[in-house]
Formats: sequence, structure tokens, C-alpha cells
Amino acid sequence: MIRIAFTKGRIEAKAVEIFEKAGYNCEELKNKGRKLFFKIGEDIEVVLAKANDVITYVEHGVCDIGIVGKDTIMESGSGFYEMLDLGFGKCRFALAAKKGEDFFGGYAHKVVASKYPKVAKEYFSSLGMDVEIVKIDGSVELAPLLGLADGIVDIVETGSTLKENGLEIVSDVAPISARLIVNAASIKLKKDAVDKIISDVEKQI
Ligand code: PRP
Repeated sequence: MIRIAFTKGRIEAKAVEIFEKAGYNCEELKNKGRKLFFKIGEDIEVVLAKANDVITYVEHGVCDIGIVGKDTIMESGSGFYEMLDLGFGKCRFALAAKKGEDFFGGYAHKVVASKYPKVAKEYFSSLGMDVEIVKIDGSVELAPLLGLADGIVDIVETGSTLKENGLEIVSDVAPISARLIVNAASIKLKKDAVDKIISDVEKQI
């Protein structure tokens, strides 16, 4: 039995499209109601979960494969193999600040707000900068506008959230897209079945 965790929402929709094109039976997944388990093939089932939980289930080996964004992998992932860049769900992590402000100018102590404190911390460490990171749970754009932070590290897709709030990109931090991850034991113990799924999916991307 192979169990695959799809991240609910936008990633799920694209993942269903890819698995269907790859020949798996996604009828149940397309008419899912409130169900959380779906059989998509002989001894293959899909579960739907939040991004952080996809990682938890794959790390613990209760799911063999996960489909999850690179953003969540960077913030909270380790102990599994990232096997494929699926090429959808493309966006990026960027550092942004109030329009016209010189974020890197001056020597004053800097504060940055983010839903992704680990990503933000690692970014500033890579620049050799000691920046205070404040964890915010959503609508991070508020933090510099309220005067809590000098900047934010957040996901930027179209850029319209920044623009509509008088913020602008200072620098790119990392590209993001959906990835296929595999549990470290499954990759060895269920090699043939896992390889088959990876190769079926790879042909569709
Ligand atoms: C994400 C991100 C930005 C927005 C970027 O938020 O945190 O706020 O999308 O998209 P854009 O560049 O296309 O405007 P999300 O929609 O996940 O909501 P949240 O802020 O409540 O987490």
C-alpha cells in the first residue's frame, strides 16, 4: 500500500490534474464531499491535509509521498527526500518594505516580521546580518504599516498585496513551487512502487 498526502486547496487541484493525466483514477477526489481518504489505484490511496501536516505525515512515515509547497518545506521540513519540482504553484519568498524606504541603509537595529521565521532568519544569516525576526500568523503586510517591523519576508505571487498596501520588494529570497517528497524509509522499502509513481508523475510535468 502506498499512501500519498496532497496539500488541500490550490496544490490539491493541480495535483489531481497531474495524477489523472498520469492514468490514476481521480473520480472520487474530484467529487470529494467531506471525505479525507481516496483510492486512486490498486493499493494507492490519497489523503488531504494542510501543508504542515503533509510534512508531519511524510516525516513519520504514515504517508509515503507528499505533495507540498517549497515554502512549507523550507520553513518546517527535514527527514525526507525532495524528489521532484512539479513546476506549479510558482511564487517566491521576498523581502519587502515600505515604498521608498532604504531597508539596507544605515546601521540601526532591524526588525522583520514573517509567517516564516526560519526562512527569514536563514536569509539574513546568509547576508551576515543580525536581524530580529517577529513571527506573525497572517496578513504580515500590516506589521511594517503599524510600525512593528522595518520589513517583511513573505510569499509574493502577483505582487498586488504589496502594491495595494504601499509596500515594495527589496530583494528576492527564494523561488517557490510545489514539490513531491518521499519518506526516507519508503524510498528504500517500497522502492518499486514509489519509483513507478514518481516516473508516472514526472512524465506529466
Ligand atoms: C499570501 C501572502 C501574501 C499574498 C501574496 O497570503 O502571504 O499576503 O498571498 O499574493 P500576491 O502577491 O498575489 O498579492 P495568503 O493569501 O496565503 O493569506 P494570509 O496572508 O492570510 O496568509
